[in-house]
Amino acid sequence: MSDFSLLRAEDRATFTQAFESLAAAIAAGPTGPGPALAGRPEGLFVRATPTPLAEAVEELLSEILPRAARADHPRAFGFVPAPASPISRLGDLLTSAFNPHAGAWPQAAGPLSVERALIRWMASAAGLPVTAGGLFVSGGSSANLTALVAAREDKLPEGRLRDGVAYVSGETHASVQKALRVIGVAADRVRVVATDDRLAMDVGELARAIAADRAAGLIPFVAVATAGSTRAGAVDPLPEIADICARENVWMHVDGAFGASALLSPAHRGLLEGIGRADSLAWDAHKWLFQTYGCGALLVRDEAALRRAFVIGPDYLQDAEPDEGDVNFWDLGPEMTRPARALKLWLTLRTMGADAMGEAVAHGFRLAEWAEDEISGTPGWRVLSPARMAIVTFRFEEDGLDAETLDAVNRAAARRLLEDGFAMVGTTWISGVLGLRICALHPEATERDMRETVRRLDRFARNAAGLSAPR
Ligand SMILES: Cc1ncc(COP(=O)(O)O)c(C=O)c1O
Repeated sequence: MSDFSLLRAEDRATFTQAFESLAAAIAAGPTGPGPALAGRPEGLFVRATPTPLAEAVEELLSEILPRAARADHPRAFGFVPAPASPISRLGDLLTSAFNPHAGAWPQAAGPLSVERALIRWMASAAGLPVTAGGLFVSGGSSANLTALVAAREDKLPEGRLRDGVAYVSGETHASVQKALRVIGVAADRVRVVATDDRLAMDVGELARAIAADRAAGLIPFVAVATAGSTRAGAVDPLPEIADICARENVWMHVDGAFGASALLSPAHRGLLEGIGRADSLAWDAHKWLFQTYGCGALLVRDEAALRRAFVIGPDYLQDAEPDEGDVNFWDLGPEMTRPARALKLWLTLRTMGADAMGEAVAHGFRLAEWAEDEISGTPGWRVLSPARMAIVTFRFEEDGLDAETLDAVNRAAARRLLEDGFAMVGTTWISGVLGLRICALHPEATERDMRETVRRLDRFARNAAGLSAPR
């Protein structure tokens, strides 16, 4: 007879050892920013019969997990890196170990109290009023989607979805376009407002677009401002957008999935002036608050707006009603069963202290500034967008090479840097020009790391361009 217990007796010792070696691996950190192994793992399909736990754990550790980039390495500068704190990982493990059902108070009053306190703390950091609330979701895409459902329900009269118009800019994250599609807003009802030379939304054009749509009998219902764009760290003019939204009865959503963390740095929070006037704000902890994946927050100015958008209240959930003043997170978003996503954030903040978290965020600003300084001082290179919100974009542009060659050289430099194993940088397009992009968040990255990354890029670019030694 097969043993169908969930932890077989012969696997118990391995189970304990796996945790012990895990702790050592977490504390040691990654060896490089790229995958440790190339290619795909072979033959690891599910079998009808059991595999000993020791063997399966070994497959995970030696064949599967090493084939993933380490976005938590100090010199992982591509995309939005994930320099997750070891304490966040511990929080994640503890949460999974106890696996609370964090949809409803009666099921998990402890975890829900902590998540609610964190939501209030983040809302207060953003300057949102006491009516504010929200919930933790899987990340920025889910936060944007959940916010847009609330905006649609709040601003569009029944049966007028086809007339609703949304306003974004060319810098708005793609997850917003995706969310608009999911909630039923047709592509011809999405206006992409132009940006200025700082890549910030042109508010004059926003106002004109809203007026034109209203004159055409349409219903402007949501404007999405970005606080820290993925491409270049650009921040839209939040106070002016808030003025327009207030005047026009348009829901103001701010996508601060990446940049809202600057609120925790006293030296930088001024960049986000006006953010507290938003109707909703996406703010990811798995980006610049050093958490493992699956930890994003959605904050709304008036929690009741989320309830109006999401409460259904089927009779089979009647035994899980919250007490007066409490809220069931399943009433604030699309999920019913949900993990207690933010206990790891609580553990991190509790042990680190909010001031040190703010300092760690400020360090990201400095890292990008050091990189910019090195780029500016290196002949043949041009800064495409200056250090903003821990991001700088730049391009090798030595005289005498045509644009196509330069594109290929810049791409080659990024590729060789990764092959070299020192650092990972990405590529992006800034106002139609291909460039390299550094997004530097890791508290343990140093000025030397930033300068050396640029020096190596210079070497690789010159090499790829057939230009011998640096001058
Ligand atoms: C500004 C911004 N918004 C939204 C997202 C999407 O977040 P997630 O990948 O957590 O869904 C990102 C991801 O980088 C982002 O930078």
